[in-house]
Amino acid sequence: MLSPKRKIKLAVIFGGRSGEHEVSLCSAASVISALDTRQYQVLPVLIDKHGGWNLETGFPGTSGTSQPVVLRPDPRKPALLDPKTGRQVVGIDVVLPLIHGTYGEDGCLQGVLEMAGLPYAGCGVLGSAVGMDKALQKQLWQEAGLPIVPWFSFTDLDWPLNKKGIQSQAAKIGYPVFVKPANLGSSVGISRVAGPRQLTRAINEALRYDTKVVIEKGIEPLREIEFAVMGTTASPEVSLPGEVVASNAFYDYAAKYVDGESELHVPAMLPVKLTDRLAKLAAAAWQSVDAYGFARIDFLLQASTGKVYLNEINTVPGFTEISMFPQLWQASGLSYSELLDRLIVLAFARHERRSRLSREFAIPTKKPSKRRAR
Ligand SMILES: Nc1ncnc2c1ncn2[C@@H]1O[C@H](COP(=O)(O)OP(=O)(O)O)[C@@H](O)[C@H]1O
Ligand SMILES: [Mg+2]
Repeated sequence: MLSPKRKIKLAVIFGGRSGEHEVSLCSAASVISALDTRQYQVLPVLIDKHGGWNLETGFPGTSGTSQPVVLRPDPRKPALLDPKTGRQVVGIDVVLPLIHGTYGEDGCLQGVLEMAGLPYAGCGVLGSAVGMDKALQKQLWQEAGLPIVPWFSFTDLDWPLNKKGIQSQAAKIGYPVFVKPANLGSSVGISRVAGPRQLTRAINEALRYDTKVVIEKGIEPLREIEFAVMGTTASPEVSLPGEVVASNAFYDYAAKYVDGESELHVPAMLPVKLTDRLAKLAAAAWQSVDAYGFARIDFLLQASTGKVYLNEINTVPGFTEISMFPQLWQASGLSYSELLDRLIVLAFARHERRSRLSREFAIPTKKPSKRRAR
């Protein structure tokens, strides 16, 4: 699909200062081994747990050398430099950010890449930031008239001042409720709360991870339906649906990564009409949070009533070959490496479109009017 005269220098940035560091290593290992090396000069860039950048020779999980580097955020010549000498190690044409969670999925890394004038795959700063914040995305979806569960949010500052009010808001929603840190992933800090006596503990647990907490209605019995979405903000393509069947009471961290017993059903067994409706909702949800490039959009389906609710958008979903996102595209007819090519094409397309924008504004000089001149 891409036919450049020389290989494209593609930096795959992974790891990161986030609780999902290890998950990112797995995503990056799969991606790097699937990239077409005739087309790309792949630059594996590991951000370690302290935030240091390292250019790797092997890819995650294999032995190789690791050279500390820093990014020169100069749009005239973005490159990786040797931090000791300041000399250029290698230039970069495009970036595939594969860091899940904090600093990678929330717009921070995307902001650095914008400063450096680099094309990058996936959502921009705004889409990433909203995609990371479970309260803000709900607000936008609510405004767009999309179905979400009853919910409210508050901060660490509100909680000690308004415990009674928060407790009665939760009771009004009706138990069970789910208590979540607003900005996190991998189910970290999330609790299912069956009754008012467990609420304080769950709130304190969520407040360990974020200063903002979301409380929402628990949907039971639950089916979890997910779609992969790709494209521009205005014209997204939506995959077939997939379904997660969690091995635990809910799809918590252990069910996701530890016990390996959760099942992914691709495609999900759903009536065609419902699939169509959900796909339309996924596209609308994508647009209303200013998503671009790729994302996974997850729904809660109440099995007993057939009611559906948007749960969340993941702007850097798991990307191993057996993760839901690539599997959904595979089931929809797109191979793993074709998918990666498409994401890179989209990265260049956005960059080109934005680079045509004027960054200068000449203040129009007006001749003084006669009246003023007098
Ligand atoms: N409102 C809800 N009702 C029932 N189960 C929920 C609800 N919200 C979350 N869950 C369960 O908790 C899991 C993690 O919540 P989610 O909001 O997806 O956070 P994360 O970003 O950590 O994946 C979901 O996959 C689901 O199993
Ligand atoms: Mg989730």
